[in-house]
Order: sequence, then structure tokens, then C-alpha cells
Amino acid sequence: MFHLGWFLGDGFGIHPWSPTNGDGPWTGTNATDWMKPGIYVDMATSLERAGFDYILIEDTSMVEDSYNQSSETSLRRGFMAPKNDPLPLVPLMTQATKHIGVVPTVSTIQYPPFLAARAFTTLDHLTEGRVGMNVVTSVTDRVAQNFGYERHLEHDERYDMAMEWIDVVKALQNSWEDGAVVADPVAGVYADHTKVNPIEFVGKYFKCRGPLNTIPGPQRTVPVCSAGSSEMGRTLAARYDDTQIAIVKDGAAAKKYREDMRARITAAGRDPDSVKFLFIATPTIAATDEEARAHHEQALAARSSDKAIEYNLWNMSYTSGGRIDFGAIHPDTPVGEIDLSRQNGEYTSIKELFEGHEDRTLREVVSKSFQIKNMGLVGSPATVAAKMGEIMEEAGGDGFLFYLPTTRMNLAMISDGLAPELRRRGLIREEYTGSTLKENLTAF
Ligand SMILES: Cc1cc2nc3c(=O)[nH]c(=O)nc-3n(C[C@H](O)[C@H](O)[C@H](O)COP(=O)(O)O)c2cc1C
Repeated sequence: MFHLGWFLGDGFGIHPWSPTNGDGPWTGTNATDWMKPGIYVDMATSLERAGFDYILIEDTSMVEDSYNQSSETSLRRGFMAPKNDPLPLVPLMTQATKHIGVVPTVSTIQYPPFLAARAFTTLDHLTEGRVGMNVVTSVTDRVAQNFGYERHLEHDERYDMAMEWIDVVKALQNSWEDGAVVADPVAGVYADHTKVNPIEFVGKYFKCRGPLNTIPGPQRTVPVCSAGSSEMGRTLAARYDDTQIAIVKDGAAAKKYREDMRARITAAGRDPDSVKFLFIATPTIAATDEEARAHHEQALAARSSDKAIEYNLWNMSYTSGGRIDFGAIHPDTPVGEIDLSRQNGEYTSIKELFEGHEDRTLREVVSKSFQIKNMGLVGSPATVAAKMGEIMEEAGGDGFLFYLPTTRMNLAMISDGLAPELRRRGLIREEYTGSTLKENLTAF
């Protein structure tokens, strides 16, 4: 069996909303309703029916303006802005469900560790143990500038800071020992102060006295997720993650990634079976294989449209950490001539896009390549289910994180088309056996 997650890739923000912009015919009322509860509650109930472990909620806190040195494209097309804070979505989604986990993103430059430990422990109580935290370091200068920095820290230092941040959060969540809460109304004793300890943390980036001013939640330490695959990203994941996200192109690459990570986890003194790797999947599913193949061909052709190229250049500017304006580079420039040394964002994404394509022009690369791989998942629900089984067999286990545009059509395809096929093959859970996210993640 393998695990399933869903990446809500636009966070609590505007989702594909305009057929005119190439968002397809199933955008519903996203343009006017993205900020209302409806689609998130539908998402949680649909994906719980499908047996998903969790929904990962992306987040970024800025209005991006590195592309063409202007926020015009971001705001005209609704790229990454507007966006609401993801944390309040968590109780909303878990109130409508009983089992599925919700993993909002938390940035280590946005939340002081005390605030994060308190917010996530509060959510752990409110969800009865179904929250996780997607720990990110934030990608661009624009986010950093909203939180008091001149520019963002350099890539590797961000990870050093993030690891210290997690140490503080975990120490706070462990600052109440077992047995500290007495809650005896007859004796009139609520807590035993000898079991509630200041953490007295003094590090390079953070200083925090503690203890946490609330009691441990059902999971005590909230499960950690991360998505960085650089050397430092892997170091962080090996030390702290309960689940990690990775982008790979096929089963063989998944196996290689997973084996590398499992060796690092063992070297960090942890049990590799305690960390679940979810590989990003963007399947194309339709009623028949033929129909799915036609949709896939259409989608590939659409990548050369002006709208798609604008999006990709915009996205690469963001992904470079806001340090390279891809709008200012002539699209017919060979990518080998583009100086990437200034980039300070998502190392792995930029590398994946350009590596091996140095002779191609920027236009060719952005129209032909795509950061997210479909891993050959094109076909009817039965075909895709069988292929997913093969990929997992090759990878050695863990699961997939679906990354599809947020439409109810896509949710139905996965929950009511694909998931029953996976279940029939014994590839995903029949029912949830744990009561917390941590228990469900480690159930198999
Ligand atoms: C599936 C996925 C989700 C991510 N979600 C966020 C996010 O919500 N906010 C954010 O600032 N970065 C996000 N990132 C970026 C990662 O945290 C990380 O910075 C990026 O993968 C580059 O890491 P690397 O340089 O170690 O490869 C995400 C990345 C992936 C692959």
C-alpha cells in the first residue's frame, strides 16, 4: 500500500479562474469564491473519501514583482496574489471531516518559533491531532522584506536557520512533561509546575525562554513536512521530517531519491520507516485512455501559448528568488548563456529546468519542459492506477502527492475515478486505522 497527499498549490489563494487565460473549462466560481469556505470543505471531504493522508497547503506572503520589474503580471493574472493566511483553513477543513490530515505551510522567517509552536499546538488540539507543518524558508526577497529583512538570507544559511527554528519549536512542544497536566477538579490541582520546564534556548538565530503556555496536543510534536531537495534540504529532511515531498521524473528516480534519503535518515540516528516520501504526480485522467492521451497532447501544445510562456517566465523569476528577471531576457537566448549565479531561490527547480538543455532557447525550454513531471500517468482511472502501482513497486514505497489545478472536476477525477481503482487493487487504504496524522502516516 502507498500513501496519498494533495498539494493545494495556490494555498488559500486564487485558483485557476479564467478559461480565457488557458485555465480550462472547469474553473467554476473560483474567480469570486476562492476566499470562501466552499471549495476547501469539498476538497477535504472528497479526499477523505479517497483515503488521503493529508492536504498540503502552500503559502507565500508577498505580491511578486520581479518579472518585468512590476506587479502588473502578478495582479492581472492572479499569480500567487491575492492569498489569505492558511492557518484558519485548518479547523474549517477538519470540522467537516474525521480522519484526513491538513498540513499548512509555515515559513521560518515569518513566524518566530514561539508563535509557531503555540499556533500549531493550538491547531493540534482543535483538529484532535490532524495537523502537520510544511516548514519552508521562503523563496524570495519580497517575502523577506515583509518581515524586516533588507534581502533574503542566502540559500544554505536559510536552512541552518530553519533547522534551529525546528529545534526551538520541538523543545517548546516538549516543555510540558508527561504527567504535567493533573486536571483534578476534586483536588483542585490543574498542573504540576515541576513538570513544566523553561527551555532557555539560546542559538545563533533564536532566543526563547519557554515553556510553551499551553498543554501538549494529541501529537505533542506536530509532524514536519518539507520539500527541498538540495543538499541542505535533504539534511533538514533527514533530521526532522515525518514526510517529505520530492519531484522526480519516474520510478527509477524515485527509488534513487528515496534510497539516498533513507541512508541519510539512518545516519541521523532515526528510523527510515518513520519518514514517508511522497512524489509529486500530475496525472491526466479521462474516461478512456484515448481521451486522456488527447487531453495530454492538448496540454502539451498549450504550453507554447503566449499565456503559458508568460506564466512560466513569471514563475521562473519568482523561483530564482526574485533575483533574475526572465522578462528582461530575450526569449530566443540560449539558456546556456543565461547567468544563473545570482539566483537564490529554489535550487532544484531551476536546475531541473535548465540542466541538459543549454543549447535550447529560453522560449523552447519554457514551452517544452515543465517542472512538475507526470511520470507517465496518462489514461483512464484503471490505467493510471496500474501505472502508479508499478512506479511504487519500483520506488520501494511511500506514495504520491497530487498537484493538479484546484477545480472540483479534478477532485472528482481523483476521488471518484482513480481512488476506487487504486483501492480495488489493494494499493491504498480501505479505511483509516489511526486517529492522528502521525498514526496514519506510520500505519504502513
Ligand atoms: C511541493 C512543493 C511545495 C512547496 N511549498 C512551498 C510553500 O508553500 N512556500 C514556500 O515558500 N516554498 C515552498 N516550496 C519551496 C520549498 O520549500 C523549497 O524552498 C524548494 O523546494 C527549493 O528547495 P531546494 O533549494 O532545497 O531544492 C515548495 C516546494 C515544493 C516542491
